[in-house]
Amino acid sequence: SRYFALIPAAGVGARIGADIPKQYMQLAGEPMLMHVLDTFAEASAISHVYVVVSADDGYIADLMAAAPHLQGRVTVLFDGGPNRRDSVLNGLQAIREQAGDDDWVLVHDAARPGLTCALIERLIVALRDDAVGGLLALPVVDTLKRSDKNTQDARVAQTVARAELWAAQTPQMFRYGLLVRALTLAAAVTDEASAVEQLGLQPRLVEGSPRNFKVTLPHDVALAEMFLKEE
Ligand code: C5P
Repeated sequence: SRYFALIPAAGVGARIGADIPKQYMQLAGEPMLMHVLDTFAEASAISHVYVVVSADDGYIADLMAAAPHLQGRVTVLFDGGPNRRDSVLNGLQAIREQAGDDDWVLVHDAARPGLTCALIERLIVALRDDAVGGLLALPVVDTLKRSDKNTQDARVAQTVARAELWAAQTPQMFRYGLLVRALTLAAAVTDEASAVEQLGLQPRLVEGSPRNFKVTLPHDVALAEMFLKEE
């Protein structure tokens, strides 16, 4: 079976407070999304890279025009949806002629520019013979509290034992057929693994890296640039 990358990049990134969608913000001299496309394009195990943008995206054409080395390696799908799950599912449906049910799909956030080829390789090696698939994740370092309500005057309802907790990263790697089925049936989910979990399956946890964090808030930009300049 083959390995495809699918990158949902149809969000607006409101929390970062920039005047352009966050996946197009400049980081260490290149748009955030370009770092991600470059990494997957360089990864030898990946057969092809698909990026899902919104139908009215006004930035991707310039990005691709500035990246002749991505021609033939990366295909843009203008199928973004109202949330991440819809963007991923629309993208999967758009490539149904290209992908077989047993091919692997690595779904990766455009907002995680610190991904490396070594991490992609680690994920693939860990999961290529797995019956379910899995994801990169990191053990949680903070002590976590569950609140009694979702408002500013909340109090601690419970401390959640940290030893068994992991923070989910991406890529999340599942076989094409399973992923389409899981996302089609899933209720509200914020990642692919939870859709697969809703089918009663247990995705594998593969150790990720701090540099693969999700750029979300304004101060994340400086940290992302530090990691990117380390390369
Ligand atoms: O907003 P957040 O950082 O959680 O988004 C995670 C990823 O999902 C980003 O790469 C974002 O572009 C993508 N996304 C999408 N379509 C949406 C919302 C988010 O492709 N409607």
